[in-house]
Amino acid sequence: MLPSKCSTTRIQALLQTHEEDRLTGTDLDIGDQTLQMNHVSFSYDQHHPILSDVSFTAEPNSVIAFAGPSGGGKSTIFSLIERFYEPNEGSITIGNTNITDIQLADWRQQIGLVGQDAAIMSGTIRYNLTYGLPGHFSDEQLWHVLEMAYATQFVQKMPRGLDTEVGERGVKVSGGQRQRLAIARAFLRNPKILMLDEATASWIPSPK
Ligand SMILES: Nc1ncnc2c1ncn2[C@@H]1O[C@H](COP(=O)(O)OP(=O)(O)O)[C@@H](O)[C@H]1O
Ligand SMILES: [Mg+2]
Repeated sequence: MLPSKCSTTRIQALLQTHEEDRLTGTDLDIGDQTLQMNHVSFSYDQHHPILSDVSFTAEPNSVIAFAGPSGGGKSTIFSLIERFYEPNEGSITIGNTNITDIQLADWRQQIGLVGQDAAIMSGTIRYNLTYGLPGHFSDEQLWHVLEMAYATQFVQKMPRGLDTEVGERGVKVSGGQRQRLAIARAFLRNPKILMLDEATASWIPSPK
């Protein structure tokens, strides 16, 4: 079947976007450095300003939260930190370095984002926690991060525990459970900066 004109246009637009340059820039260990957003303004298109003069400081070993109405720009802040987009004005810095000067691959490796709609892969719980991560993880380590993400209870109830198949062909997991698994995976990755987008709704203990 031929794609419709509309999807052809979209595919052409996608092919014309530039590939991210992941390799230029400095290597920087961001451990123990302060993340700052400095007077950032941003809009996806010229007509709808989303963020206007936003500043905040995130010290090492601290937790900070953004509160605001739906559509207020909270997820956009995470997208800017991930460098999916760049601020129109202002800067985001880590220590004295602008994050745009850091090698993209290096930056992304050190930060972790659990998005609003955590996806799950077809495979076991173990696979969903560990895919793509270097090294070997013991069962004990996996249960530990599941515990921290309040996911132990529902995984324990699954027929084969960590080796239960989930997703399309396996046990179905709810949106909240998917997000807890994503949080557990993020703990396993142990990024220097962990960002949880709307995860607080899932990240509470299950009722006993
Ligand atoms: N990729 C995008 N392109 C254009 N507009 C967007 C995009 N993502 C979000 N927006 C718009 O930006 C505004 C802020 O969205 P968002 O950052 O998701 O808010 P929040 O997370 O606080 O609910 C909304 O008006 C939303 O429609
Ligand atoms: Mg959001």
